[in-house]
Amino acid sequence: MDIRVLRPSDIPNVQTANITNLPENYFCKYYLYHAMSWPQLSYVAVDVSRPPRTPYDPPKIVGYVLAKMEEEPADGVQHGHITSLSVMRTHRRLGLAEKLMRQSQRAMAETYGAHYVSLHVRVSNAAAKHLYSDTLGFTIEKTEPKYYADGEDAFSMRMDLSDLR
Ligand code: ACO
Repeated sequence: MDIRVLRPSDIPNVQTANITNLPENYFCKYYLYHAMSWPQLSYVAVDVSRPPRTPYDPPKIVGYVLAKMEEEPADGVQHGHITSLSVMRTHRRLGLAEKLMRQSQRAMAETYGAHYVSLHVRVSNAAAKHLYSDTLGFTIEKTEPKYYADGEDAFSMRMDLSDLR
């Protein structure tokens, strides 16, 4: 498995992975906005075990992290934000989400001087909570009631990046 920076040409496949794995979906232009504004922050996991069948065969994207810098941070502190993360069911529990997150967090700190990284996660999402809290070291900052369109609450989480700066 190859983990590399998101390229604009990956966007249709990343969008497919997002629609397959999560109910929070975005227009192509929102992915492009991330890729063009903060090109070091978003990554894809590519299954390189299958050789391309034609020169135009798209790479098989099995996971992605879409991330950005907060443009007008309310607290005045430079920080990154994870917009979306997912890994295809066929490729879960292999450590891909952890690798995608660590690559993005490193680039936030090294390239943009981020002090911390934030994200939202559904309170019912046990897999993601384990990844964020136990594997990576995020803490819950607050609960945001009815954050999602279907009325579910979100945990607002953050992780300090000062070790990486
Ligand atoms: N239940 C409990 N723990 C789990 C589960 C699970 N279903 N899946 C993974 N974990 C644990 C792993 O055991 C590992 O723990 P460890 O470090 O103690 O060994 C840790 O989480 C990281 O595992 P990875 O293999 O890196 O995670 P994976 O590649 O399977 O991806 C993810 C995890 C992204 C949550 C995946 O299950 C997924 O795509 N789910 C659907 C989409 C989703 O929920 N995305 C996050 C939404 S929040 C947001 O986008 C900001």
